[in-house]
Amino acid sequence: MGEAQRRLLGYRSALLEPPMAVPSVSTLLTARLVEAVRVAGLDGYDIAVERLAPTSKAGFGDYQSNHAMRLAKAVGQPPRVVAERIKQALEADEAIARVEVAGPGFLNLHLKDEWLCQRLALQCEDPAGGVEDSGQGRTVVIDYSSPNVAKRMHIGHMRSTIIGNALHRLYQASGWTVLADNHIGDWGTQFGMLIVAWRRWLDPVAFEADPVGELERLYVAFREAASGDAGLEDLARQETARLQAGDPDNQTLWKRFVAISMAEFQGVYDRLGVQFDMTLGESFYNPELPGVVESLLGSGLAEESEGAVVVRFAEDAAEKSVRGRTLVIRKQDGAFLYGTTDLATIEHRLASWAPARAVYVTDGRQQLHFQQVFAAWKAWRQARGLDPQAIELVHTWFGTLKLPEGMMSTRKGNVIRLVELLDEAVRRARAVVDEKSPSLDEAERASIAEAVGLAAVRYSDLSQNPQSDVIFDWDRMLAMDGNTAPFLLYSYARCRALQRKGEVQQPGVQALAVSHPLEAALVRQLLRLPDVVAAATEGHRPNLLCDYLFDTAQAFNRFYYEQKVLQAESEALRASRLALVEASARVMGRGMELLGLRPLGRM
Ligand code: ARG
Repeated sequence: MGEAQRRLLGYRSALLEPPMAVPSVSTLLTARLVEAVRVAGLDGYDIAVERLAPTSKAGFGDYQSNHAMRLAKAVGQPPRVVAERIKQALEADEAIARVEVAGPGFLNLHLKDEWLCQRLALQCEDPAGGVEDSGQGRTVVIDYSSPNVAKRMHIGHMRSTIIGNALHRLYQASGWTVLADNHIGDWGTQFGMLIVAWRRWLDPVAFEADPVGELERLYVAFREAASGDAGLEDLARQETARLQAGDPDNQTLWKRFVAISMAEFQGVYDRLGVQFDMTLGESFYNPELPGVVESLLGSGLAEESEGAVVVRFAEDAAEKSVRGRTLVIRKQDGAFLYGTTDLATIEHRLASWAPARAVYVTDGRQQLHFQQVFAAWKAWRQARGLDPQAIELVHTWFGTLKLPEGMMSTRKGNVIRLVELLDEAVRRARAVVDEKSPSLDEAERASIAEAVGLAAVRYSDLSQNPQSDVIFDWDRMLAMDGNTAPFLLYSYARCRALQRKGEVQQPGVQALAVSHPLEAALVRQLLRLPDVVAAATEGHRPNLLCDYLFDTAQAFNRFYYEQKVLQAESEALRASRLALVEASARVMGRGMELLGLRPLGRM
């Protein structure tokens, strides 16, 4: 997408620097292994070198390759002999301290500390933190948050907002052009019901106090009344039809409902620092829906069934999950459905932005919905002679987040005001800050509490495997130790405190060197950031980055407790350890920003 097009879209996603060209250690070593294989005369076998990843166990070297074992058969030599040939070619490399041929023919690579320190300095000085450009100019649409108008944003929408926003940041950092789209539910038959209820039962005082709450109450009131009075349903249908036909009074009311809800949603977005590039809700696609159904009928994919129009998936459909299922795209009464809108949405996104990928972030209960929509869209493309793979469609679903019984004044079920939940988080964080840092002034404690409270809510969500069900737990998320936001923030602030205490004017990373196994381990850990970001982005698993940050903070703390920094044995050691402190702060800080956490210089 060109600059002009971004501006046209009101492009606001450039929160983070685009990646620069600092290759990661894994990338460099993989390239060097490829080169060594060539030098050893072993490149003619059509067996690609697999990307190297850091080893997890001590004793396997820093990196391990099984390439010799994969080649052996084709070469016609024993794997260990092939490994020896590659080993010789590798040993000349400036990065490599030594190579061992181990077990059946593994190559264990031990890297030089000095070389690793140079790489770490480059990584830290790269504005992108060494995160690689996996996007390569491609565009991804991320469809997240997407609450429904005239209803409260529920806890599932909060998860979608938090996880979606982390993916938004991760993709952006990885060089993708991200278009964040808030696909709000702002259309449908419920608006006819609301219009009827509004005209009959609106309580202006309640509305003044809590507009969205009153809209919700009106909706519930309508449902209750309609169960004893079938005429009401008819009235609602008429009002919906009038709205759709452009009746000015109904349009005005509907716009008001949308504006009221958007203001409530915006409160949550502002608190969480979430910005969308567009909010194209369901209503935006409404004019397209008759055409979608016509086209599906015309291409023979949809059929009429008892007055409705449906897409039937064959018993042997390519996509297993949809076999034998039916997706209704127009009801008997002529109304279109959620799936019809989603089909029109894919078409619109493809035609407008030609994204390589579209990612939908919702809870797991919508799995079947998206499987059907994706399968129907692909079949529809094919029927029109178009490429069904033009967009890679991905549903990133998450499990449910349960609030413990009686956690807040929940009105019913899990429906609470999310802004209140965020306020409560900040209030609780304030208590922790008051206890730990009574010497800081009032304004600073308030600002720290705001950062810690929001970070705690965010991080407790992101640090779990997205697909597990989780229970919201204040004590756990605010704990100072364990895999929590306060622990991470505290570890980062500890770096900054140390620099203040040492009166370091301009902290830098040039003096990096290794004088102890704990430092060697920390350097290696810090160098993993780019690989972890790549894995978290591609796998849509921000929790991988959380795990990494937790390990990093632990590695830093071990170093901090064992090694003298400010009182180091020599000036050179003091400088190199301070450089290690700075490198740790940069890596932890960058990682936290990628998750939407604001690192604090003081806690
Ligand atoms: N509004 C929907 C809900 O609250 C989520 C929409 C997700 N996005 C989409 N394109 N269907 O469940």
